[in-house]
Amino acid sequence: LPSEYDELQPITDTINSLTRHISDTMRELSDQRHKTDYLLSSMEDGLILVDNEMRVLQLNGAAQRFLGENKPVEDGRNLLRYTHQLKLIDAVQSAVDNGVSSLFDLESSDHEGMVLSVHITAIQSDWMAGGKANGAVVLITDVTRDRQVQRMRSEFVANASHELKTPITSIGGFAELLTTGVVNDPDKVRDYLARIQSETARMAALIDDILRLSCLENSAGEPGDRQPVPLRGLIEETIANLQPQLEARHVTVKVDAQDVTVQAVSDEMKTLVQNLLDNAVKYNRDGGSVSVLLQRQAGGLRLEVADTGIGIPYEDQPRIFERFYRVDKGRSRKVGGTGLGLSIVKHVVAKYGGEISLKSAVNKGTTIAVTLPLS
Ligand SMILES: Nc1ncnc2c1ncn2[C@@H]1O[C@H](COP(=O)(O)OP(=O)(O)OP(=O)(O)O)[C@@H](O)[C@H]1O
Ligand SMILES: [Mg+2]
Repeated sequence: LPSEYDELQPITDTINSLTRHISDTMRELSDQRHKTDYLLSSMEDGLILVDNEMRVLQLNGAAQRFLGENKPVEDGRNLLRYTHQLKLIDAVQSAVDNGVSSLFDLESSDHEGMVLSVHITAIQSDWMAGGKANGAVVLITDVTRDRQVQRMRSEFVANASHELKTPITSIGGFAELLTTGVVNDPDKVRDYLARIQSETARMAALIDDILRLSCLENSAGEPGDRQPVPLRGLIEETIANLQPQLEARHVTVKVDAQDVTVQAVSDEMKTLVQNLLDNAVKYNRDGGSVSVLLQRQAGGLRLEVADTGIGIPYEDQPRIFERFYRVDKGRSRKVGGTGLGLSIVKHVVAKYGGEISLKSAVNKGTTIAVTLPLS
């Protein structure tokens, strides 16, 4: 703004500088607004802000998704326009009316099986509704996965305790019989002691399995201390250790193995091979056979353990990799099974980025194949 009058120059200068200042402030404000919008829309959690009349002042994209409402957000519409979840509406109402904050889980009505955690905070501020007024901030988080993990944990603890209770009860029973002195027959005494011993071994094996599983879960994503593990040697060693069981059941084993070395935590590979072979013998028939195949294949290795045993009914097949799952609890317990073996195998295979597959027919036999990438 040039001026013809020098006297006006200071005023013109002031006006110019004010204009600059205002436009700077405007730009800053609009930058701030963009930043806030960006932040709100890219948040994974849902955020809703309501005033004292339950009018929605802010509702981000995540909140819209969680509430299953995709209508455009218009300032000032009642919260009821966005959700019919009574629990949520009541809680917001009591935050606004009585200043009560709350935290609860909500099953999403629009997404099957989705669990939302809702945190409502009562607020009071000067700028809402043009003066000092109450309001509420609602924060919604998707906790479906957390709740699933929690449920699995507590199921696991319940199952493990149950499994441990059986041998403990029986140990206690035999010990009591022995201490009361009613059993005098030395053969009986020996028999009871042997049972105590075998139940103790069972408990120790179960605890070992539980610890191994929890170790694998806790170290998920960590490579661990890997070294070259020659698999053929490992298979042969495992079979040698199974010799007593093999002889007792007249089961024969045939091995067809190439020299394959895998880079792995040696203990984990041992557990994998042991569990598969152990099952193939345990669930075999007297005089049956087991064949083990180990070969290199494109990009990795393939390990197959096939048996001529009792097989697994079709309907149980998808479940045998679950913890504590046994097709025939009675039979499995008799042969010392706790149902953790295959879930450990599954974890190990997953850790190395491999795959596991199962083919089985009742009274014909079972083949379990594991493929692992070799890097
Ligand atoms: N080769 C197989 N033939 C028939 N059934 C099998 C075979 N392998 C596993 N199963 C069935 O799957 C169930 C789960 O196997 P898993 O190895 O996880 O547990 P387990 O052998 O019972 O106990 P653990 O391995 O902890 O000693 C077994 O109880 C059994 O019913
Ligand atoms: Mg097993």
